[in-house]
Amino acid sequence: MKVMKLNRACLTHLVLLQLLLKSSSLSQQWSISSTPTPTPWPEQFHALLYMNLSASGHLQISNLWYDWPKGRNVNILQKQLGELLYDVEWNNGTSFYYTFGANGSCKIIEFEVGILRPNFLDGATYLGTQVTDGFLCNVWEKVDFIWYYEDVVSRRPVRWDFYDGIMNHVITFEVGAVLEDSMSQAPSYCFSDQASSQ
Ligand SMILES: *[C@@H]1O[C@H](CO)[C@@H](O)[C@H](O)[C@H]1NC(C)=O
Ligand SMILES: *[C@@H]1O[C@H](CO)[C@@H](O)[C@H](O)[C@H]1NC(C)=O
Ligand SMILES: *[C@@H]1O[C@H](CO)[C@@H](O)[C@H](O)[C@H]1NC(C)=O
Repeated sequence: MKVMKLNRACLTHLVLLQLLLKSSSLSQQWSISSTPTPTPWPEQFHALLYMNLSASGHLQISNLWYDWPKGRNVNILQKQLGELLYDVEWNNGTSFYYTFGANGSCKIIEFEVGILRPNFLDGATYLGTQVTDGFLCNVWEKVDFIWYYEDVVSRRPVRWDFYDGIMNHVITFEVGAVLEDSMSQAPSYCFSDQASSQ
């Protein structure tokens, strides 16, 4: 009788232990699969961005035309009460910065790296949810370079901040929109001897 009791107690413990192990591995699986990951950028999109260059306090509007198949990232930047600046980045590392008009200027910069890949946020650290610009967002951070806010429901980007304080607020996000090639053609003075090149 005593032996039976002991066995039953042991058995109960075993069952409990198994249940605990099972549930802890279940909850572990659950927490891993429930950690959100950022949605990769669409291969082509147009976004209207409201930018706050907080370091200087200045504001600007940017039309961002991201085009991975064409290896091209175009920012058309309207500075508040200032110039309209074209920033055309190519995946081979060459970037053209130019303005039009009477004092049109051009600057060419060669970078070591090309444009951002659609999955550039892979491996970002999840920081939880936060309401920003009135939207409930999942927030990630990557290599102390970018803080990225994505709408929990629509999974569209709402905002991203760079390490230097520049804040980008997404006003429109048109998946599949493509910039006309002629709009990314650098003006002839980029290719004359006067163009400053680095
Ligand atoms: C821009 O960012 C700075 C620093 O966070 C903030 O003080 C300022 O109010 C912002 N300006 C606008 C117009 O959002
Ligand atoms: C990169 O591509 C652009 C656009 O085709 C071109 O204008 C530029 O010269 C290229 N740069 C290099 C280093 O090949
Ligand atoms: C062009 O530059 C000149 C000399 O700096 C300046 O006087 C003029 O106002 C500028 N014109 C425009 C359209 O920005």
